[in-house]
Amino acid sequence: MYRYYINCNNWKPTRDEWLYATRCITKTELERIDKFVFQRDAKFALAGQLLIRYLLSRALKRTSSSFEVKRTERGRPFIESTTKFDFNLSHHNQLVCIAGTFDGLIGCDTMEYQVNSKPRESIESLTNLLRREFTKDEYNFILNRTEDEKKRFAHFHRLWCLKESYVKWLGYGIGFTLSRLNFCIKTEDFNRDDSKQVLSDTKLEIDNKLIDEKLRFDEQIIYLPDNEQQIITLCLSDKNNCEPFIELTISEILEGCTPLDENKQDEEIWWIHFQGKQLK
Ligand code: COA
Ligand code: MG
Repeated sequence: MYRYYINCNNWKPTRDEWLYATRCITKTELERIDKFVFQRDAKFALAGQLLIRYLLSRALKRTSSSFEVKRTERGRPFIESTTKFDFNLSHHNQLVCIAGTFDGLIGCDTMEYQVNSKPRESIESLTNLLRREFTKDEYNFILNRTEDEKKRFAHFHRLWCLKESYVKWLGYGIGFTLSRLNFCIKTEDFNRDDSKQVLSDTKLEIDNKLIDEKLRFDEQIIYLPDNEQQIITLCLSDKNNCEPFIELTISEILEGCTPLDENKQDEEIWWIHFQGKQLK
């Protein structure tokens, strides 16, 4: 299987990088990206599209431009292929990540785990606001295990990411009743001394019943610059190897992508539009 991420936070695209990247993805996706108001959102969405093509090219050993990437009615990207291959993308905070497998379906989600910026609201008010999305045990896991506010936020994000990874595995999108899912976390804390640690002992109950053992949840912390931490969670078949994510650079991804036939030459307009977007 394949697990890749890129830290997009400090990527300041050059004109050449941006224009080459825009040639490697479809017009439909470009037009979607072009509508974002903020540079950050456009940058993360473009990196996501490139990462999808990079991954497909690596896994299926064809040029990145040879794939027709479609979306389901619910927006989930996929390819039609005789070799069954599934992938899923997630972007949040500093990272864009992707995982792909030949063994069953995959759901991927990422979120902040520990950040330096001061939260806008307390963990109590956030958890209470979203009270309906959590089971009683999950609620206790967030608020009643520790007094440490940072750890309580981390627990909140860990559970949220688990729920999202399952919903994304399903391909469902918004509307799934998240409180039907009860995640039983066995290993409460990650080991800071083992930066490549992948926890896979978290279990899921749906409607109070433990699910089929064949599904596994792999959780990993990415230790970012500035002492920040971000979690990546995968929902996948237990036939997959348990392995850590690999970090890629934007140059590596661009080198692995080829322009689509429909985008024969640079179109300056995409760069002009990107430069005109607001900075966050
Ligand atoms: N299922 C799986 N993956 C999907 C998807 C779906 N239905 N729809 C889109 N995706 C993929 C896409 O690649 C998308 O990125 P792209 O649009 O740039 O290609 C990516 O997942 C987005 O994932 P992520 O970056 O983790 O964003 P998110 O966590 O905000 O959104 C969704 C994930 C799309 C599944 C989300 O909209 C959602 O429906 N969540 C369900 C849970 C819920 O109700 N949450 C409430 C939040 S308050
Ligand atoms: Mg997400």
